[in-house]
Parts: sequence; C-alpha cells; structure tokens
Amino acid sequence: MHVTVFSTKPYDHRFLEAENADGRHRFTFLDARLSEGTARLAAGSEAVCAFVNDELNAGVLEVLRREGVRLVALRCAGFNNVDLPAARRLGISVARVPAYSPHAVAEHTLALILALNRKIHRAYNRVREGNFALEGLLGFDLHGKTVGIVGTGKIGEVVARILAGFGCRLLAHDAYRNEVCESLGVRYVTMEELLEQSHIVTLHCPLTPDTRHMIDAAALERMRPGAMLVNTSRGAIIDTPAVLRALKSGRLGGLALDVYEEEADLFFEDLSARAIKDDVFARLLTFPNVLVTGHQAFFTEEALHGIAGTTLANIDAFERDGQPLHAVSVERLA
Ligand code: NAI
Repeated sequence: MHVTVFSTKPYDHRFLEAENADGRHRFTFLDARLSEGTARLAAGSEAVCAFVNDELNAGVLEVLRREGVRLVALRCAGFNNVDLPAARRLGISVARVPAYSPHAVAEHTLALILALNRKIHRAYNRVREGNFALEGLLGFDLHGKTVGIVGTGKIGEVVARILAGFGCRLLAHDAYRNEVCESLGVRYVTMEELLEQSHIVTLHCPLTPDTRHMIDAAALERMRPGAMLVNTSRGAIIDTPAVLRALKSGRLGGLALDVYEEEADLFFEDLSARAIKDDVFARLLTFPNVLVTGHQAFFTEEALHGIAGTTLANIDAFERDGQPLHAVSVERLA
C-alpha cells in the first residue's frame, strides 16, 4: 500500500523502514503536520500514518477521503485527535497502537517524580557551575507517601508496580478495578478521596469529554497543600491556567508534565532560537518547582520498535482483510 506518513522525524523514518525491510508498502515521509492545509499532500495514498498532534477533524478527513485515503494508521495509543463519527461517515478506518511499551511511559513518570522531588534538574546545573550548596534541594522520602493513580490501565498498572517497590501507599481511581493493582495493595477510592489524601497525584487516564479539565480549580483546591501533580497522559486533562494559579499561590507543591494542552504548536520541534509565543507555557517554565519534558515519555528503543511493528501489522491487516488489527471505532467514545 502507499502510505503517507505525516509529522515524520528521523526516528520514525528509521523504525518504520526497518519494519518494512521487504518493501511491501511504499512510504512517503513528510515533515509536515497533518492539518487542513497539508491533507492534500496525501493524494494517491490509500493510508496515512499520523501522530499525536496531527489534526484529524472532519474537514481534514473529508480532504483525505477525496484524495483516496481509506485508512488512518495512528502511530500512538491515544485517539483524542480523531473525529471518529466523521471517519465512520466517510468510510475511513482508524487504527491505533493500543499497547507498545507501558514501561516506557511508566518509567518516565518515575523519572519526573524523582527528578522533581530531589531537584535533579537544579542540582545538575549547580554542580556544573561548581556550586555544591544543598540549600534549596531538600526533597522527601517517597517511602511511606501516598500516591494517587488516576487510571489503572496498562501504564497505571506499571506505575503502581514500581511505586509499590518504593514502599508508597497507593490509591487509585478508575471505573474498572485492576486485579494486579489490587494484589499490590492499591486501594480504589473516589476521585475526591484520592485528591484529598495523595502527596502525589499522577494521571494515566485517556483524554475524553469526561476527563477534559478533570484537574480544574476545584480539584486543585481539594488536593493536599504542597502536593505534586504529574501528567504524562494528555495535556487537556488539566486546566493549565488553574494550575498556574495554584503554583503562584504556593498551594501546589510541584508540577511535572510530559504533555501540555497547547503542545501542538511547541513540541517535537527545535524552537530554541525563537520566542515562545504561548505565555501560559512560558510562565510555567519560570517556576523552580515545575519540570516539563516535551512528550518524550514514549521515547524508548523498545517502544518505537513496538509502535512501528503494530503500525505495519495494522496496515498489513487492512490490505489483506479490509480491517486493521487494532481498529478504533466510534463506540469507544461511549
Ligand atoms: P489504558 O486504556 O490501558 O488505560 C486507561 C485507563 O484509564 C483505563 O483503565 C480506563 O478505565 C481509565 N479511565 C478512563 N476514564 C477515566 C476516568 N474518568 N477516571 C479514571 N480513570 C479513567 O491506556 P494506557 O495504555 O495505560 O495509556 C493511558 C494514557 O496515556 C493514554 O490514553 C495516552 O493518553 C497516554 N499516553 C501518553 C504517552 C506519552 O508519551 N506521554 C504515550 C502513551 C500513552
């Protein structure tokens, strides 16, 4: 099949071509992000391969359909950027990579928690400048602290396993109980209880109409004073201006983000020689107790290998059976 790959980085090219070593599919790799302005670049392809910040709204899908596209193969787990009812109406199948390495994201979550708590990001700079003073670097033991995990699916479960090893008391909120988590001692509670009791709140649920701005001013007000908030899931699960206010007032003790609501205009690009135009984001970076990475939690060898393998398997199955291996259907929105 001819597949146009949007938002391509050198690593996408490398891992997808390695999976396609026998040349059974023809890839056209584009740097461009998929949007209404770029959708026509897929002309002549039966499939497009898209990533987290590509736009797949009704307008884009209509252009893709006109150009002959019948499959959208997402090379990510989340599908919040796709208008699924429009895809169904247009007869475009949507596939995703439901699981690659939950360890990649869970381990990055721990990297953020540990770095923010022990102020590794600040210590790194100090030591390079010959400043070995410890004032300002005081952290806390994770052992014995209460961590609230919102969403105990594949990633939340690995986070729970790791934190159990640290000796944390684990709370969780999810409509579905995960037996592995329960066997680790995770206690399921209401969202309110989780917020009130946790020293650290870490988000591992998908972005849906239900979870959009789940962490808003009221939720922040419920959190323990000085608690840490960690988001490696999707930016819009938290209301960033409300979080800014909680940081300014000192109510929120720390914030670690791998995702940001308006990340599409920032992440995955080298903007180091330009002014950041997003004032909310720029303000976030001024806080000493905020640590941000640019959507890199998935970025391990194992995960990229898994993503490329499943993406190719989706395309293979669609070509063979007219149905991708891991289809996302509109019913999943319910
Ligand atoms: P999953 O589908 O295995 O688990 C998600 C869990 O969240 C499920 O147990 C579900 O019941 C629960 N959930 C749904 N709505 C909820 C709500 N309102 N409150 C509490 N729990 C709720 O998904 P997985 O693989 O664990 O991934 C989780 C999310 O992580 C993805 O949706 C994606 O947005 C994000 N992600 C981020 C990456 C990164 O690089 N930063 C990479 C991969 C995923």
